[in-house]
Amino acid sequence: MRVLITGATGLIGTQLCSYLLSKGHSLHILTTRTPWQTDRPQTRVFQWSPQKMQIDHRSLEGVDAIVNLAGSKINQRWTTKNKRSILNSRIQSTGLLFDAVKQSKQKPHLINASAIGIYPSDFQRQYSESDAVFSNDFDGEVVRQWEGEAKQFEKLSCKTTILRIGLVLSNKGGAFVPLSQPTRWGLGAWFGNGQQWQSWIHIDDLIGLIDFCLQNQLEGCINATAPNPVRQRDLIQTMAKELRVPQFLPGIPKFLMSLTLGGMHKLVYDSIYAKPQRLLSCGYPYKFLDITTCVADLIARN
Ligand SMILES: NC(=O)c1ccc[n+]([C@@H]2O[C@H](COP(=O)([O-])OP(=O)(O)OC[C@H]3O[C@@H](n4cnc5c(N)ncnc54)[C@H](OP(=O)(O)O)[C@@H]3O)[C@@H](O)[C@H]2O)c1
Repeated sequence: MRVLITGATGLIGTQLCSYLLSKGHSLHILTTRTPWQTDRPQTRVFQWSPQKMQIDHRSLEGVDAIVNLAGSKINQRWTTKNKRSILNSRIQSTGLLFDAVKQSKQKPHLINASAIGIYPSDFQRQYSESDAVFSNDFDGEVVRQWEGEAKQFEKLSCKTTILRIGLVLSNKGGAFVPLSQPTRWGLGAWFGNGQQWQSWIHIDDLIGLIDFCLQNQLEGCINATAPNPVRQRDLIQTMAKELRVPQFLPGIPKFLMSLTLGGMHKLVYDSIYAKPQRLLSCGYPYKFLDITTCVADLIARN
């Protein structure tokens, strides 16, 4: 299979490329970096600029699937300028891909990233893919619009899969590193009362399920999370236990983080319990079902 990947240089994309190559697939990478090359085998690099609506159309030649991961970081200060970049980098890039596919002969299977931030924060409720309730907050609005752009591919008769990705845990970046580093020094702390649900997923399971969706041609929205979310307090305490360090600090008050991070602070105080109902129904073989095994594995990799 030939797979076109956008955002291939990021946390998820880098590991996805290695995995797909190890399975014998060939890759086309679309990057905003110029110049950027790779010495990976079976890989061709193409440039694009969603902002300028420029794309190298050769990137679509012979492509069976697209994995669209591109987007500027959501965990940056939510200034007006950054908010515009967070939204536009996703909408424009997905729109540009749509226009390019429309003009080409290919009808690739689209796997588009989204996020569980589409669901409203709730300390009790559990969401599965069939729940059509959406957050009106900035991050919820971004992913809702992003999903809307991705769904346009259905009009081109392309199989379309939308992955509502949870908190990706990896020793290479994302949330795990800034949460586990202070914990390692005995300075680990949760945010607020720590009762917020964290719908996490181990990076290996996320990569595996992208391949699973490609192989099994799963379509529609899929919660890309592990089946057993945990309270944030339990996540921090598990890290401390696995690192064999004490955890004694109280929760970090919301007003402090609001002063430090601005509107973006809500990302660490929101509570979202997203159940991966569809993956469970399809029998996706998770490697990491519980947080202890996941955290122990990531610590052992360091
Ligand atoms: N990591 C998580 O916990 C998580 C959770 C939920 C959803 N997601 C979503 O999944 C996607 C991939 O996540 P990730 O953690 O791998 O992200 P990442 O490490 O930030 O990588 C995203 C990639 O997007 C490209 N990009 C950055 N700014 C861009 C712009 N202005 N226009 C177009 N492309 C741009 C970059 O690739 P090039 O430099 O090669 O162009 C970058 O490497 C993101 O869209 C993210 O929102 C991630």
